[in-house]
Amino acid sequence: MSEIREFADRDTLDGILAGHIASLLVADINRRGSASMAVSGGSTPKGLFARLANCELDWSRVWVTLVDERWVEPDHDDSNERLVRENLLQNHARTANFVGLKSPGNDAAAGLAATAKQLAPLPRPFTCVVLGMGGDGHTASWFPQASNLAQLTDPAGAAELGATDPVTAPHQRITLTLPAVLNSGEIILHITGDEKRAVLAEASDKRYPIAVITEQKTTPACTWWAP
Ligand code: 6PG
Repeated sequence: MSEIREFADRDTLDGILAGHIASLLVADINRRGSASMAVSGGSTPKGLFARLANCELDWSRVWVTLVDERWVEPDHDDSNERLVRENLLQNHARTANFVGLKSPGNDAAAGLAATAKQLAPLPRPFTCVVLGMGGDGHTASWFPQASNLAQLTDPAGAAELGATDPVTAPHQRITLTLPAVLNSGEIILHITGDEKRAVLAEASDKRYPIAVITEQKTTPACTWWAP
């Protein structure tokens, strides 16, 4: 990852990053008539989502999906879809076109084909992809102890989606693969805190999953960080 943008605090980061993402979306709407982005779940993006929701743009031309999802119903407390609906798809952004990754059924692997069909209408490349990172160096649902991590992060892989058992986190997961994440105009790694900064610094040496993003040269990528 060539660039890291540092901010004094998380609120400042969220405000400036929201404006940056809004400008990317508007530019794509003006250029190709629509825009699309994939966002991550977890706790970090909640402030960003609130600021984005208040950005005035033609959200009806924006498609939003998730980078990854816990294989739970959309009303479950742990659902990333629920997080996005409650925090991003509000106010001005309530008119955005959202496509979730959970499809019917109790098994993520069995649901892959149906989810892929759900995702088909989204404009590609993504305008941007917003990634988070765990303290173990995972991003998306590319977890260090997952049995199919190599398959999910194979740059030459054909599949856009994969199902996985994180082992070190609850719920089966469905996730975009590395090729799907790289099929974007820009990758934004949104992380906060000194611990994650330190994890990122040793990602390459420790072969953390996030290294496939920090070391690739296919898609412009930048880390946005605050203490
Ligand atoms: C998820 C996310 C995941 C997240 C990291 C960081 O489904 O949990 O997509 O990849 O980005 O776990 O989560 P926090 O922001 O809560 O630290």
